[in-house]
Amino acid sequence: MNESEIVRVFRDNRMLITPSALEELRGKESKDIIEVIDKLKDLYKNYGGSEEAVIRTVTETDIKEATQTIKIPTFVEIKRATDFKPLAKEYGHDFKIHTEYDITGKSRCKGEISDFVQYFNERFKKIKNVLLSRPSTNRVVNIETLSKLKPGENARVICMITSKTMTKKGHMIVEVEDDSGGTTILVLKENDQKKPHEKSCFEKAQLLVNDEVVAIDVRTSTNFKIANDITWPDLPIKPKKTIEKDLAVAFISDVHVGSKYFCDAEFERMINWLRGVGPGKELAEKVGYLLVAGDVVDGIGIYPKQEKDLVLKDVYEQYKLFSRFLEMIPDHIEIIVAPGNHDAVRLAEPQPAIPSDMINAEGRVHSVGNPAYVDIEGLHTLLYHGGSLEAVIAALPGMDTLHPEAAAMELLKRRTLNPLYDMNDIAPEHQDYLFIEGDIDIFHTGHWHRNAYSEYRGTVVLNSGCWISQTDYQLKRGIVPTPAILPVYEMKSGHIRHMTFNSPEIKIV
Ligand SMILES: [Fe+2]
Repeated sequence: MNESEIVRVFRDNRMLITPSALEELRGKESKDIIEVIDKLKDLYKNYGGSEEAVIRTVTETDIKEATQTIKIPTFVEIKRATDFKPLAKEYGHDFKIHTEYDITGKSRCKGEISDFVQYFNERFKKIKNVLLSRPSTNRVVNIETLSKLKPGENARVICMITSKTMTKKGHMIVEVEDDSGGTTILVLKENDQKKPHEKSCFEKAQLLVNDEVVAIDVRTSTNFKIANDITWPDLPIKPKKTIEKDLAVAFISDVHVGSKYFCDAEFERMINWLRGVGPGKELAEKVGYLLVAGDVVDGIGIYPKQEKDLVLKDVYEQYKLFSRFLEMIPDHIEIIVAPGNHDAVRLAEPQPAIPSDMINAEGRVHSVGNPAYVDIEGLHTLLYHGGSLEAVIAALPGMDTLHPEAAAMELLKRRTLNPLYDMNDIAPEHQDYLFIEGDIDIFHTGHWHRNAYSEYRGTVVLNSGCWISQTDYQLKRGIVPTPAILPVYEMKSGHIRHMTFNSPEIKIV
């Protein structure tokens, strides 16, 4: 059938066909078209609504679903255990999204030099305030005053790192600046005023990265300013916070709907588990929140030749399918969705929320920016997709691709989500949305496609893995994913559980 004939047949059946859907049917025989229309009618019945009441818009996803090119769980087949009694429903919800720390709808920068100056001044000011609250035996001075001190005097300077170089003798020269000027500080390799269980100043200096803000204790000599110690803003040490209610939070990220590598059967299995089907039902009953840390769809044009990895080449179709999955998650679970680098928002961080209409964000589905702060039952939770993890792993000694949580802890230590400006896209907003606000109880990242868990100074640090198998692109970059594993954090006991859905037999680890 030609295109106009296909359009007419669909219209006769009260269906409007989109251009991308029409593309899927190009060149098909009339009997095949009629068969697709019959299947679509069955599908639409399953989605609910009165058949006569509306004219349906037929999308590329609908056609692929009807022709079984992609598999979409149907609402009639979705399971729910009959004895499923979610505690989360009984308790109700207590959560707060901190919109004051969310860029959504507030972007003011134009990317001009003055924006960058203002942004870095803001970053410096915020971290300086944290560092000023740290105890020190040295008085804190600015660089201008430091340069006027007499030889032998000690002081602490709060500064931004401009560069690091090594001398021929193996010492380190650190260029720093603050709002009063710039200077050079020498870190001697033999300057080993090491306290027990603490790194020496020289070892600490290896961990400095450009554009971060630290406090350096300095002793002046006739010719040099010599570093004695380095202090990062860091999180205060606190006990891990737990709650009275026996509730749990589940974490996902990097779903990549639309990719041919998307683990649809595993994702469906996970949703059924949230509905009480399978082992560990008593844990599923506790889940009251699902946090999503970005890359909900695969997007388009994200990496070279991505088209060959896509089953859905229209980003709207990808979001539509993701939304259908969300609809199948039980109503008593509040869902908070942040974007990642594959999502249909700007790439530069901070990223605004995915437009609400693309993921049907209403009722219990909340679309937030990246980063986002949410207090869940009183636990101060930070969602960050993790765009800077790669740069941190590359820049710091001791990091490796198997442990994204170690890089995440380095972000907490620096109180900034994106310390390496040179290596990441940062939008120079006039407020520093990448500053890590408050004492974090849960730090949830994604991006790295590997499940990881640790605790740092009383903060739960976790990477929520992915729902996509290894792509050729990841293979070339040495990323080894751990697909289809759901971390679930029990807020009363402070225990983490990992539910594995990568085989029909669901396991709790
Ligand atoms: Fe991803």
